[in-house]
Amino acid sequence: MCGIVAYIGSKQCQQLLLEGLKRLEYRGYDSAGMAILDAGRLDLAKAVGKVANLEDKLETIGGLRGTLGLAHTRWATHGGVTEPNAHPHTDDKVGIALVHNGIIENYAALKTYLEEKGHVFKSQTDTEVLAMLIGELYEGDLEKAVQAALREVTGAYAIAVICEKEPDTLVVARKGSPLMLGIGNGEFIVGSDPAAIIAHTAQAVPLDDYNVAKVTRSGFRTTDIHDVPVTPKVMQLELDLEQIELGSFAHFMQKEIFEQPKALRNTLRGRLETREGRVVLGGVARLDKELTKARRVILTGQGTALHAAMIGEYLMEDLAKIPAVAEYASEFRYRNPIVEENTVVVAVSQSGETADTLAALREARERGALSLGVVNVVGSSISRETDAGVYLRVGPEIGVASTKAFAGQLTVLAMLTIYLGRKRFMSADQCADLMRELERVPDKVDRILESDQRIRKVTEGLVDRENWLFLGRGYNYPTALEGALKLKEISYIHAEGMPAAEMKHGPIALINDGMPAVFIANKGRQYDKVMSNIQEVKARGGRIIAVATEGDDQITRLADDVLFIPEITEPLSPMLAVVPLQLMAYHAAVLRGHDVDKPRNLAKSVTVE
Ligand code: F6R
Repeated sequence: MCGIVAYIGSKQCQQLLLEGLKRLEYRGYDSAGMAILDAGRLDLAKAVGKVANLEDKLETIGGLRGTLGLAHTRWATHGGVTEPNAHPHTDDKVGIALVHNGIIENYAALKTYLEEKGHVFKSQTDTEVLAMLIGELYEGDLEKAVQAALREVTGAYAIAVICEKEPDTLVVARKGSPLMLGIGNGEFIVGSDPAAIIAHTAQAVPLDDYNVAKVTRSGFRTTDIHDVPVTPKVMQLELDLEQIELGSFAHFMQKEIFEQPKALRNTLRGRLETREGRVVLGGVARLDKELTKARRVILTGQGTALHAAMIGEYLMEDLAKIPAVAEYASEFRYRNPIVEENTVVVAVSQSGETADTLAALREARERGALSLGVVNVVGSSISRETDAGVYLRVGPEIGVASTKAFAGQLTVLAMLTIYLGRKRFMSADQCADLMRELERVPDKVDRILESDQRIRKVTEGLVDRENWLFLGRGYNYPTALEGALKLKEISYIHAEGMPAAEMKHGPIALINDGMPAVFIANKGRQYDKVMSNIQEVKARGGRIIAVATEGDDQITRLADDVLFIPEITEPLSPMLAVVPLQLMAYHAAVLRGHDVDKPRNLAKSVTVE
């Protein structure tokens, strides 16, 4: 999604802003731009496409000079991918430049009002309307003009604003879209993501909704949009540069797939007291009493996070014996859901900023649910708005396709299941057994990763096919959905995931000679049924790729290709079964020549509904 970086200090800031934009590239974007203020004059540069195009443009025009500036990567919402629509946007009265993430929902009415006042617009964006409005309301004080404009807008925003008339002022604000103010030594760096800041400082103030910060070279103050002072909460960013650099890997997605064993050890560290059969989740302990009373769990998220939530639903019902349901956050929010007493809503999200998930969480809280976050990014909106939560601790995920976060989500949901289950039907021994299995998962993932080259070879034989099926049952039905999502989002191959049994209710008509059908066919309660489903596809000429348990000879005779995973208890099997699917998707995208880390049309963090 869009990215913001802004700077005020004593350094020439063009290079710093460009580097910040490059660190935000992973979020997904289609154009980029920058504005720098020098000697009371604003200079701008914009380019469609990659940040490298903006860099070329800057070189052609001899660069921008100045120590106060802002920059942006845009992911188009209102108006096509063109230079005039790229940010920063300016007003036509006082020399405002503004960058914006989010959507101004009432932009049309504001635009009509501003046009009646004689303003002429150059773009089709909602953002330009906000720039014009701030200019219109400017009476010699940028902070006040921004506050006044924000009182008029509805929608979501993270903004950074500068003005030719105030060469020592940067104003930033947020509602519904993340923004943080990095505090450096005699300088401030603003970013929509810690990745844009961390090279300069680890101290930052994450802005809350409706916060406005006026930043000068000598300090900053925070208020709300009515100018009521707000006490800033300074936090330490838990991120080091190495974590957001590629090292010896070709792509972030590859790095993150291979980081999974280490990431999972981190997720588990200090949280399992296996001998006692007890899980220690510091973040939720204070809600112990309320959680003991929980009668129903609603797990919600989008995309990969929803697939993790679906596995969470199986875990909670099967093991903890709590009625559970997983639901798209976007659907939950708008279907007037019934939230009974003692309902717990679990918001699952890597970024903690997904607009749909945030909105569902707010809806559930509004209706009286207790809320838990299963989130990766520390200090993100979801982590701050939930009553309690458990962080994934898998480190920053840069690749757009979520991999290690999914593994972390499954691990946390398994721990949460044990935590809740122990309060009801799970015995200490049963919990301890599951915990021992959990502890072995990182080593088992390591073993699967050793077969990377074989998985690549198998993928080579399939990569020209444009339609694939992913099929699984029980715990691995959501794994099948995840396999299909991974493949389609980065290789642009059409893939459908579904319960293996559902196939014969329609999709079987699709099967033709050599169509890849990936079955998750590990040993488990429904193994025999999956075998029958494999026979059905095979009989119609489909090509069978099976993810199976090591030592399974039967599957070797049946499938065209088998990708083995180590033996594991069924409820945790998705944590292993997904790994070959991630690697297949990765290799398919590389073999087809796609930009794995920046797939077309996608954004890492979807902060619009
Ligand atoms: C797929 C993917 C997306 C995200 C979804 C939710 O690989 O990354 O489907 O899982 O947009 O994002 P978070 O987890 O940040 O809420």
